[in-house]
Amino acid sequence: MKAARIHQYGGPEVIRIDHVDIPAPGDAEVLIATEATSFNPTELAVRQGIFDIDLPHTLGWDLAGYHDGRPVIGFVDSGAAAEFTVADKDRIVPAPQSIPLRHAAAIPLAGLTAWQVTNEIAKGQKVLINGAGGGIGSFAVQLAKRKGAYVIATASPRSTEAVYRHGADEVIDYTKQVPDTPVDVMIHLVGTPPPWPPPARERVISAAAPVEADVPSEHVVMRYDRDMLAALVEMVDAGLVTVDVTATYPIDAMADVRRKAGTFRGKVILTS
Ligand SMILES: NC(=O)c1ccc[n+]([C@@H]2O[C@H](COP(=O)([O-])OP(=O)(O)OC[C@H]3O[C@@H](n4cnc5c(N)ncnc54)[C@H](OP(=O)(O)O)[C@@H]3O)[C@@H](O)[C@H]2O)c1
Repeated sequence: MKAARIHQYGGPEVIRIDHVDIPAPGDAEVLIATEATSFNPTELAVRQGIFDIDLPHTLGWDLAGYHDGRPVIGFVDSGAAAEFTVADKDRIVPAPQSIPLRHAAAIPLAGLTAWQVTNEIAKGQKVLINGAGGGIGSFAVQLAKRKGAYVIATASPRSTEAVYRHGADEVIDYTKQVPDTPVDVMIHLVGTPPPWPPPARERVISAAAPVEADVPSEHVVMRYDRDMLAALVEMVDAGLVTVDVTATYPIDAMADVRRKAGTFRGKVILTS
């Protein structure tokens, strides 16, 4: 089978499309005929040697594919950028039926992270979502709105329309304006700290760069939760959450997609 792998740490040039044996699942695992994975900027850290991995390493965390003919999605520590993937049984859930299976590969990491950073948002709170144009941001805006928040989002012109469509009440063009309207909670989804004082009165929650603030500021790392992922799938099928896929490439283009990191908005899919 084909697999997008790295044999050493480095830039996108170390990504190779190899032909390898189909992996064999262990006792608590299942074999998935992979349809797609999605591009997550955090995976760049894998190539930089920041995570403890064995080499060669098959890329791909988000997973959409077929288990015994049934469409599923899930999250794996490695291996989804291949024609077949081994996944823990408890790491997969039935896929949504209302969107193409390959698009559903956009949901696990970005959707779960968005859920976990918006989890404690209360009805009526004013929330600033900084970085709303990205993969996590597109889910976070929708989930914060569903909780009854008033959402102020930052986005550049290419993402403004999408961010309004996801329900933002106000969109601030971060390339021209500093978000300085006081809010209850600020959610930070950008890889660098904000170059302005966080206007949060209660707390700051970051899934990306740590944020220094005068109020409690926490960093959230995505925790896989099968029930939460299943609930997200239900919300997608109920039309309550939209999956914002903006581009699809074959996994053969993995190195190119990684080279173009930063030029995308929404979620990018890589099909096996
Ligand atoms: N903690 C965790 O568990 C976890 C999990 C996944 C990801 N992450 C991290 O969370 C961050 C977001 O991930 P992602 O997957 O959503 O990334 P992404 O899809 O690559 O986000 C790209 C978006 O960031 C926006 N952006 C870039 N610079 C900005 C700025 N200065 N101000 C406001 N928006 C800006 C752009 O929006 P426009 O299109 O509007 O320009 C772009 O669309 C990354 O740093 C990632 O590493 C953390």
